[in-house]
Amino acid sequence: MKSTHLSALLITALLLAASTAIAQTAAGQTDLTGYWKFSSPTSGLDYLQLKQSGETITSVGRGSLAGTLHAGKLHLANGTDADATVYEAPVVAGDKFPATRITHDGPWGGADVGTLERVTEQEVHPARLPLPDLRDLPDNGLVRTPPMGWNSWNKFHDRFDDATVRGMADAMVASGMAKAGYTYIIVDEGWSSSRDANGKITGNSRFPDMKALADYVHSKGLKIGIYSSPGPQVCGGYQGSYGHEEEDAQTFADWGYDYLKYDWCSAGGIYQFTWADIDGAYQKMGEALEKTRRPIVYSLCEYGAGDVWKWGAKAGGNLWRTTGDISDNWKSMERIGFAQIDIATNAQAGHWNDPDMLEVGNGGMTPDEYRTHFSLWALLRAPLIAGNDLRTMTEETKSILTNSEVIAIDQDLEAKPVQLLSQQGLSEVLVRPLTGNAVAIGLFNRDDKPVEISFRWDSIHLFDNLGFGSRPPTVRDLWKHEVVPTTGDTFTATVPAHGVVLLQTTNGGRRR
Ligand code: GLA
Repeated sequence: MKSTHLSALLITALLLAASTAIAQTAAGQTDLTGYWKFSSPTSGLDYLQLKQSGETITSVGRGSLAGTLHAGKLHLANGTDADATVYEAPVVAGDKFPATRITHDGPWGGADVGTLERVTEQEVHPARLPLPDLRDLPDNGLVRTPPMGWNSWNKFHDRFDDATVRGMADAMVASGMAKAGYTYIIVDEGWSSSRDANGKITGNSRFPDMKALADYVHSKGLKIGIYSSPGPQVCGGYQGSYGHEEEDAQTFADWGYDYLKYDWCSAGGIYQFTWADIDGAYQKMGEALEKTRRPIVYSLCEYGAGDVWKWGAKAGGNLWRTTGDISDNWKSMERIGFAQIDIATNAQAGHWNDPDMLEVGNGGMTPDEYRTHFSLWALLRAPLIAGNDLRTMTEETKSILTNSEVIAIDQDLEAKPVQLLSQQGLSEVLVRPLTGNAVAIGLFNRDDKPVEISFRWDSIHLFDNLGFGSRPPTVRDLWKHEVVPTTGDTFTATVPAHGVVLLQTTNGGRRR
């Protein structure tokens, strides 16, 4: 009796299990419609919203992925071009299965092995939390001159680890960069994992101990920066600070971080990309940082939206990106750099326009182009955040990044913006008053052949009547590191293709 009963139970259980398996298989293999999360230990998250019709899969929103579920295999791609993203997954029963994401992203691409897992709509689109109004936060007193340092993104994207950052701190000191003024080692996207059981943000397996990393960088006499977002994820899917702003600010302070780059990224899925929402989101973290009482440089990264240079300082910002991302090529650098002159008046001690990080030494531009890049950033009083591999730089790259005469222009305390003195064809002459009545003068050739560029000394009429009349001053060429002869009322130089001649008057302009 007992055994008959048991067998009946067993048979029922087996039948149930079989029917569940069939149902799951059927559901899993024939309808992927819904929200999915791709996660992998080697990369950030990706949320997908899939729609299935027969064997055809399309995606809504992000990335326009499309493909098929055929013979139990999911294949999704967003095109066939060189920068396509591809997902491959054997779709097995249930709502979670192994998947591989292949990204074609230049040197940063690769295959990430992880899982695709069904998630709720709320996880993908969390409810909006209230934002504070913009109010004038007290100045934190940091970065009276534009910050100088190194950031991981331009060279490594998210493909780097704790050892890379330590290596960069070592090289910063050994190469003479630290001596030249570079101070902040900034860990950009790729360090964060999710949150622990108490909601505390954690480093991923490549960054097992963020506090130890900060201690190491400090032991070299340097400062360290970290990266997050007002959104739930940073741009590449790693954990962001949405809904945890105060906790994260405190965690960064407890770990000993001195600088936060706060990148809009997925905040766009929650807030509007309007001035009111953007400034509220940045104000929220500005307040959270202030509350920690630790001096933390606050770097706003929202690509210049809402004329951030007009309100960034109020939200507590020490610097704010004024543009989209720079790439390591002449066109990108030229487009960004020469578009900054009109807003140069908005930079002030402790609150800087940031036309994005340096590409010097990354290999996509000629030495002349990199000298133009560095000279222009210095004239703009832009942050000098190197983005190359400091461990392996050539002597030429080092000579650009550590040119102390050019760095001195960037760091000069005279709070006067750069001005366009003259423009002819693709030539531009930029001037900026420096302390001690000196003047920096950049002759820029944006043409792809050498060009002769001239200006008259008496055309330089700067603020406070700082000018030269027709008397030529003593002038140094800051790339040749020598005094250049000046006679007559005009200065003329042949400037190489995409190159610069950067001058500084050493006997001061004459006050008239
Ligand atoms: C944005 C920023 C970059 C970098 C990446 C990381 O594009 O502008 O500087 O931080 O995000 O994904």
